Amino acid sequence: MPELCGIELSTPVINASGTYDAIAARSVFGDELLDDFPFSAFVSKTITPEPRAGNAPRRIWETPSGMLNSIGLPNKGLEGFLAEDLPRLAELPVPLIVSIMATTREDFANCVERVARRPEVAAIELNVSCPNVHSGLIVGENPSETEALLEALRPQTEKPLIVKLTPNTAAPAAVAAGAERGGADAVSLINTLKGTAVDPASGVPALGNGYGGLSGPAVRPVALEQVRSVRARVGLSIVGMGGISSGADAAEFLALGATVVAVGTESFRDPRAGSRVAAELECTLLSERSSAPALHLD
Ligand SMILES: Cc1cc2nc3c(=O)[nH]c(=O)nc-3n(C[C@H](O)[C@H](O)[C@H](O)COP(=O)(O)O)c2cc1C
Repeated sequence: MPELCGIELSTPVINASGTYDAIAARSVFGDELLDDFPFSAFVSKTITPEPRAGNAPRRIWETPSGMLNSIGLPNKGLEGFLAEDLPRLAELPVPLIVSIMATTREDFANCVERVARRPEVAAIELNVSCPNVHSGLIVGENPSETEALLEALRPQTEKPLIVKLTPNTAAPAAVAAGAERGGADAVSLINTLKGTAVDPASGVPALGNGYGGLSGPAVRPVALEQVRSVRARVGLSIVGMGGISSGADAAEFLALGATVVAVGTESFRDPRAGSRVAAELECTLLSERSSAPALHLD
């Protein structure tokens, strides 16, 4: 059975933070969603210490084989999440991973401690990489900042800490090594790649924030290379993501050393994508096993 940092999973396919609103999905699909949930663990949208309204519209812009977003982490804040969302997310039939971001180590540590204390939470993902919020960039671009953050957070909980790496740095593997030295249990990658677009109708930036983060199939080769380089550098578990829309895509990440994979943008096109990718992946892995030669990576 697949597992991530000791958490047993029914399949190797989880969701990417911020790309599947399980509470909204349940209100649309009803309790049937619980009988056939598309992911083997649920990662929440990133929460911050205080409520955030998010960025000005427009927040989404379609690009060739992908999309740009500048959502800007709208969320209810720690207290609102703990009081309102966590009890509802705890009703999902899968382990819950809560994504957290803060602008100071003290705030980060407080959020980790408060969230980890809740028995409903299986693990915590630390968002040090969101390209829409300046404070997130600094830590995730820098190995020693990342190491120091982990050193501050590690004493707050024994639950697994997963560091969500930013791809917007020259050396993501060095940042992963910093996370490992600081005591992280896993890294997840990639977050969105910084990008922008101009609305041809108006000649001004298409996104209200001026720029955003690119995701979807267009980023997959970049994500695969970063997973390969991170795997070569650290022994941590890896959650691989970036443009996965089929089982064959997911198999590429696993072949390069990802422990499990996450589906993001594809869920906007197909809300059942998680289940489909998991089923296709099983077929892909079975047929790979029965048809040599194996994929050589060196
Ligand atoms: C609309 C949208 C919102 C996102 N929100 C978050 C977020 O709150 N926290 C986070 O760590 N990543 C966030 N991401 C990044 C995804 O989790 C994922 O790392 C990225 O989109 C690459 O995977 P994909 O190409 O499969 O979408 C968001 C991505 C999108 C498209």
